[in-house]
Amino acid sequence: MHLHKYERIWLISGISALILFLTILGFGAFYLGTHPQSHGVIIDPGNIEANEAFQTENLGLTKVDDDKYIVNIVATAFNYDLGVDDEGKPVKNIKIPKGATVLFQVVTPDVVHGFNIAGTNVNMMVEPGFISSIETEMNQAGEFTLLCNEYCGVGHHMMFATVEVYE
Ligand code: CUA
Repeated sequence: MHLHKYERIWLISGISALILFLTILGFGAFYLGTHPQSHGVIIDPGNIEANEAFQTENLGLTKVDDDKYIVNIVATAFNYDLGVDDEGKPVKNIKIPKGATVLFQVVTPDVVHGFNIAGTNVNMMVEPGFISSIETEMNQAGEFTLLCNEYCGVGHHMMFATVEVYE
């Protein structure tokens, strides 16, 4: 078989470019264990209750200090578990005073979900095996929709709650 000189040059440069790109990609993907910034802490998705934060009584909004709150959430297909109110009904609305610092911690035992408070900078992917967390200051008053923006199944569109930031 005879390869023309130019064919050989293009073949070699093509293969070299492929190897170079794959090397850069592989390096970028695995160097220093790179992963989304919000996914530093791992958790057993089959036993999330082992973590105190995600036990039923600790779900939802908790005030930890003046103007400091934690919200623990278990995302499942197709619900955000924010705990229950005094009457035992599932909480679907959290009320936070304007200017408060809020740490959202979210886990899931089943599939990948999204966690987006529309109109704010809170937007995370929730993956089984990781605690997704973000701390933010709620500086804008209003009612915001917390929604799942990762397709997770037939009930995906029903997966939402509301976050009310009051003055
Ligand atoms: Cu959960 Cu889409």
